[in-house]
Amino acid sequence: MVDGTPDEREWVDPPESFVAQANVTAADRDAFRAAGWPECWRRAADLLEWDRGFDAVLDGGASAGTDDEGSIRWFPGGRLNAAHNCVDRHVEAGRGDETAVAWEGKLGETRTYTYRELHDEVNAFAAALRELGVGEGDVVTLYLPMIPELPVAMLACARIGAPHSVVFAGFSADALATRLSGAESEFLVTCDGYYRRGAALDLKRRADNACVSVSHSVEQVVVNRLDDGRPAGDCHAYADLVDDHAGATVEPVARESDDLLFLIYTSGTTGEPTLVRHTTGGYLTHVAWTSHAVLDLGPDDTHWCSADVGWITGHSYAVYGPLALGATTVLYEGTPDHPETDRLWEIIERNDVDVFYTAPTSIRAFMKWGEEHPARHDLSSLRLLGSVGEPIDETAWHWYRDHVGDGDCPVVDTWWQTETGGIVLSTLPGADRMRPGAVGKSLPGVETAVVDETGRHADDGEAGQLVVTRPWPGMARSLCEESGWGARRTRRVDGEWQYATGDNAVRDADGYLHLLGRADDVVKVSDRRLSTAEIESAIVGVEGVAEAAVVVGADDEAAHRSEIHAFVSPESNVAGDDALRERVGRAVEEAIGSIAVPDVVTFAPSLPKTRSGKVVRRYLAAIANGEELGDTSALRNPEVVGELESLLDR
Ligand code: PRX
Repeated sequence: MVDGTPDEREWVDPPESFVAQANVTAADRDAFRAAGWPECWRRAADLLEWDRGFDAVLDGGASAGTDDEGSIRWFPGGRLNAAHNCVDRHVEAGRGDETAVAWEGKLGETRTYTYRELHDEVNAFAAALRELGVGEGDVVTLYLPMIPELPVAMLACARIGAPHSVVFAGFSADALATRLSGAESEFLVTCDGYYRRGAALDLKRRADNACVSVSHSVEQVVVNRLDDGRPAGDCHAYADLVDDHAGATVEPVARESDDLLFLIYTSGTTGEPTLVRHTTGGYLTHVAWTSHAVLDLGPDDTHWCSADVGWITGHSYAVYGPLALGATTVLYEGTPDHPETDRLWEIIERNDVDVFYTAPTSIRAFMKWGEEHPARHDLSSLRLLGSVGEPIDETAWHWYRDHVGDGDCPVVDTWWQTETGGIVLSTLPGADRMRPGAVGKSLPGVETAVVDETGRHADDGEAGQLVVTRPWPGMARSLCEESGWGARRTRRVDGEWQYATGDNAVRDADGYLHLLGRADDVVKVSDRRLSTAEIESAIVGVEGVAEAAVVVGADDEAAHRSEIHAFVSPESNVAGDDALRERVGRAVEEAIGSIAVPDVVTFAPSLPKTRSGKVVRRYLAAIANGEELGDTSALRNPEVVGELESLLDR
């Protein structure tokens, strides 16, 4: 992929018409860079309204590039409120009648909220939360599907300074319980059910099960009803609370820049979900600036980020980023192929979407469904396309641009992570040339390198781990505080601060980065981040299972996702049969949710191991994908590889 001389590699230029209207031109980019790090981020912070100006852009040892291990603080002394920035200031600017949220329901229904309506409902719900006892700093867990009440609840929490913790609605009761406990969250907002491919799922039952299994008490539960009426049991109806507090005004709490805006759990490299915390000032600055510079959004735009708000992508680019800039954000509750495979194109056409941001896994599904589906719709409102979550190959990149972007929309491939809060690698669509298959360079204000295991910078063309070498505003707070390469994945190498991203990458001769996938046990399945260790730990908890290893295979075209493949070795007197297979599936569904249930379970007498006893997943992945194994002689038990291959009959 990075072979070949630079002139053999393809460059694509953004169209003149795009450059002429872009928020950030090459001159703006250069001026941003010229301001120097970290001062350049002062310009980004100007996109927000601060209640109190900050004393410095950055405080902390890493800022000076010294060996000081002190904690890092972005915009110290500054105070602001995220809900004020995302809602009130647009109403105050006379834009109250413009659409903030355009919601497309699963069953074809639609709802829109103008900025004024959003303001009113956020205020009413914020007043209700206060009355329920939520104070500044209290964590409110939001276990809600893609309905407008989710961003309303997020902003209501932000308004009163209560960090939210959104839990993806597809997660199980156990997964919710772990997240409620980890955050010691005493407040839960959920709903009684939601539709998935036409079927209603019972979220409230899962929430009830979670609440009884946590050790602390969940004091208040708010339930948004699918149908009219009061929820059963000891909880509050969302609609009643909002009605009772209609017309209330809650003064936005001026939060310190460093105060938490939200917590979010993601999959790490261990069997437990990892808690990531994001700050108010740094995070909001980062997502507002990247929405402005990379997604090229402004108040006249309609933006659609198709990710679920339960994941970081939805937090940053369906809620906080576009709303901070006063744009319209489209929220879609359903799936791309229900009721028909042209559902997304129909939504883009009807809403005149300007910027569409989705994941390669979806693009691959669109390709399979056929170009005739986008072709049937008028997609001429689109002016920019974005991709996120996995590497996008050149074929998918071109298909996306040709069949969705009418052959001339710029496509930004954006690389980032839950821990980075917002985009850190991408081209700037109004300033940089694009190279299909490469994400581009680090954004201005961000510095990265590819390093070997010792932290030495790799040469161009040499693969290694991607590290970020300077702090950036959207960085998770846990990266600012703790120390040690292991826990927070930061270290110092010859005085250089390095955050290890866990991704492998290679830089080409032009400085463009090509992402090669994860270096650790984190996997992306349908752009959702899962941990093989987490799935394995659920499987080995099943009675009769001795060992398990999970790998991810190629795309399963029917399911529009990559296959999760589990190799399970039962205890010696236990049969690897369908009953055990079912118990394995059920255990994963209970521990995490149906998104993580293995598509294939292969029982094996043992798993391929190194002489030191470590399972070699590389071989298992090759077996699952029917690929060549290469030399297996370094294994302690090379014979097991042949046995596994014959079991899979590949
Ligand atoms: O492996 C990288 C992949 O997604 C991981 C982060 O996943 P998550 O924390 O769920 O964040 C999702 C929002 C970005 C990364 O470590 N990844 C993300 N974007 C890209 C990518 N891999 C290649 N190219 C990308 N553009």
